[in-house]
Amino acid sequence: MKKFVIVFKPSGRRVSCGAGTTILNCCRENKIQIVSTCGGQGKCHSCRIRIEKGIPTAPTGSELKRLCNSELERGWRLSCQARPAGDLVIYLPAKNSLTSTPAFKEELLVKLVPDSGRSRPRKGHGVAIDLGTTKMAGYLVNLSDGSILSNYAAANPQAVYGDDVISRITYAMSSPANGRKLRKTAAGAIDDMILELSGMAGCEPGTIIKIAVCGNTAMHHLLLGLPVGQLARAPYLPWTKDPVKISAKGLGLKSAPAADVYLLPNIGGYVGGDHVAVLAATEARDIMDATLIIDIGTNTEISLAAGGDVTSVSCASGPAFEGGHIKYGMKASPGAIDKIIIKDDKVKYRTIGGGRPVGICGSGMLDAVAQMIDARIIDPGGRMDRGHTLVHAQVGQSVVLIAGRDRSADGEDIVITQGDIRELQLAKAAIRTGINVLLKSAGLAIPGVKRVIIAGT
Ligand code: FES
Repeated sequence: MKKFVIVFKPSGRRVSCGAGTTILNCCRENKIQIVSTCGGQGKCHSCRIRIEKGIPTAPTGSELKRLCNSELERGWRLSCQARPAGDLVIYLPAKNSLTSTPAFKEELLVKLVPDSGRSRPRKGHGVAIDLGTTKMAGYLVNLSDGSILSNYAAANPQAVYGDDVISRITYAMSSPANGRKLRKTAAGAIDDMILELSGMAGCEPGTIIKIAVCGNTAMHHLLLGLPVGQLARAPYLPWTKDPVKISAKGLGLKSAPAADVYLLPNIGGYVGGDHVAVLAATEARDIMDATLIIDIGTNTEISLAAGGDVTSVSCASGPAFEGGHIKYGMKASPGAIDKIIIKDDKVKYRTIGGGRPVGICGSGMLDAVAQMIDARIIDPGGRMDRGHTLVHAQVGQSVVLIAGRDRSADGEDIVITQGDIRELQLAKAAIRTGINVLLKSAGLAIPGVKRVIIAGT
């Protein structure tokens, strides 16, 4: 097969790409991580790249549908659709790259780790890892006194095979080799995290003897190489709900081969060990007054704890709160607009790190919606007022300009579209529906809820 050279900017990384290979697949093969919310089906907008030099194949039908003329003219393409027709120089925007490490509020996270209640000190180190669909978080703990020696957060590299659980299940089911690829990717990410944590703490990874991993049921099954097809079909049953103990070697971990790995039990197909960890940390079984415990993520788990009983539901809230499915959405990393103020028909914003804006993260979107309601740019039903000074038309829909191309990092207008508002409404509605179902089953109404505990990144 004919091969072409692709150079990625701003990293300067140079790779070889086969003529028939999509740029997204070429990135996957070379471990360059690009956000691909729909798993490379040409149905979202998240894998955008800009061709700076060279000739790619002609735009596909999906690209003509998702990208406006001015974007195509300036070289923007969907990496899951475009293929090289010669050597290329490609600009990979920071907001579409998965390499950034989110900010970590150490002082808050440390408080959430409960006391173990042990009396007998142990030697060696332990690692606790939350294997999320989008993000991973880890702690290195001194087992003799329970102190936390380091913590680290990173993107889950499986995201290049699909941003949400269903895309990843679909990918794993498409062939046994793909299932193995996801398993290996998760194990490799845990290895990387262990090396990072031990490097930060200045300890040998070989001294790690215990590793606890929690994750949603799909992440749990994919890591263990268990069948996942049944998780995508009603009644969404997990292959196992039991806690699992396995050797690190058996799991394919190379960094701490002598360790035992413990996976927290699952409650159901869409309420997994990560929510069990939240319930343990909040001591839900001891809560007497009606309390909602909400773990917001791509899949949001909600529990109602009252009088020693705990009932849980989950809802498909999607990635909008993390910037997914939002035209200029991005994770909360440097360059993300996280605060928006609209006053006297003027838009002001703040970015994480204070630099030029790259996109808008979930907090920025929530701010924007609240401000747009106050400024009567959108009505209570979420519809943009086309007669408002700040509302313009773009590619057949209403948009509000947040940062002009002269100010943005990529030289692109950063806008919030009518479609973005609808995505956020869908996410919020999913969570509210989950809450309503729980309250109804308990014979309660909102005023009966005494406390709400929110977890999530
Ligand atoms: S459009 Fe390319 S990953 Fe969704």
